[in-house]
Amino acid sequence: MKNVLVVGAGYMGGGIAQVVAQAGYSVYLHDSNPASLEKALKEISWSTEKLEKKGLLRDSAAAVRKRIKPAADLSVARDCQMIIEAVYEDEGIKKQLFARLEDVCPGGTIIATNTSIIPITRLSADMRHPERLVGTHFFGPVPIMKLVEVIKGEKTSDAVFEKSVEFISSIDKYPVRVMKDIPGFVMNRINAMAAQEAFDLVEKGVAAPEDIDIGMRYGFGWTVGPFEITDNSGIDTALLVNMAWRSLLGKDVTVSPLLEKLVKAGRTGRKAGKGFYDYLPDGKKQPFDLRKLD
Ligand SMILES: NC(=O)c1ccc[n+]([C@@H]2O[C@H](COP(=O)([O-])OP(=O)(O)OC[C@H]3O[C@@H](n4cnc5c(N)ncnc54)[C@H](O)[C@@H]3O)[C@@H](O)[C@H]2O)c1
Repeated sequence: MKNVLVVGAGYMGGGIAQVVAQAGYSVYLHDSNPASLEKALKEISWSTEKLEKKGLLRDSAAAVRKRIKPAADLSVARDCQMIIEAVYEDEGIKKQLFARLEDVCPGGTIIATNTSIIPITRLSADMRHPERLVGTHFFGPVPIMKLVEVIKGEKTSDAVFEKSVEFISSIDKYPVRVMKDIPGFVMNRINAMAAQEAFDLVEKGVAAPEDIDIGMRYGFGWTVGPFEITDNSGIDTALLVNMAWRSLLGKDVTVSPLLEKLVKAGRTGRKAGKGFYDYLPDGKKQPFDLRKLD
């Protein structure tokens, strides 16, 4: 494997492009929104320079950055052996993208999806070559988090699955093999239960986000609490994931009114400078009184 295309240059796609380039691969990065692509390239430069200063990069930051080429369209897919999709958590958008990619790239190209919860078999239902679709579920912030779930859809071929596991190891991440393609896979099934309970406790006024985050850090050894995680991931993305859960699992899942309120108020998390917390220009966070949203 030599060339990798990452589609979607948001929070996850930018980080994925960075770690793939850090491992020595040549990367194309595409986003339908040129502003997202530009922002991602700036963040990659910032992040790799920081890692270089700490002595954590194998090559120079400049060398890593040079390996990442912005792609204005998807035509570069024909030169790639692996494509990683990290667009919005929306089944229709992802399926449309796979149809366009299948028109461009040869049958042997692996297409990996970074979906948070949508089963791979569902996403590959209309593909001409469903055996080439596999799940590679990265965790954010991607340059820091070492875990990637590799998910085998019902139609994913053994060869594609094994090559994907090897690829994930080659970029210095730990692959967790998920052999049954169920909504949310493994980690997000566990995380969703904790997050849903945490949101519910805040909505009921039982405790504030900062207290629950402290509780999970010091009581259960989490390195960051559920509200810190959601702010880092993007509250808009968390809401899309919540809505996808509901459409996959039905009325047992409620769409969190708290997430809806925050998104409506433009409080989409750390990237917006405000979410469950307020963020100062130096990145430090301060508690925010959620009652102000009512
Ligand atoms: N945020 C997280 O912590 C996290 C963790 C694991 C998995 N995921 C999953 O990763 C995916 C991306 O999440 P994110 O947080 O990076 O979202 P994001 O909103 O930060 O970025 C998505 C990017 O995709 C681009 N895009 C949308 N449609 C496109 C298309 N058709 N072609 C090209 N680009 C397109 C958007 O312009 C945007 O820049 C989602 O499926 C999400 O569920 C997110």
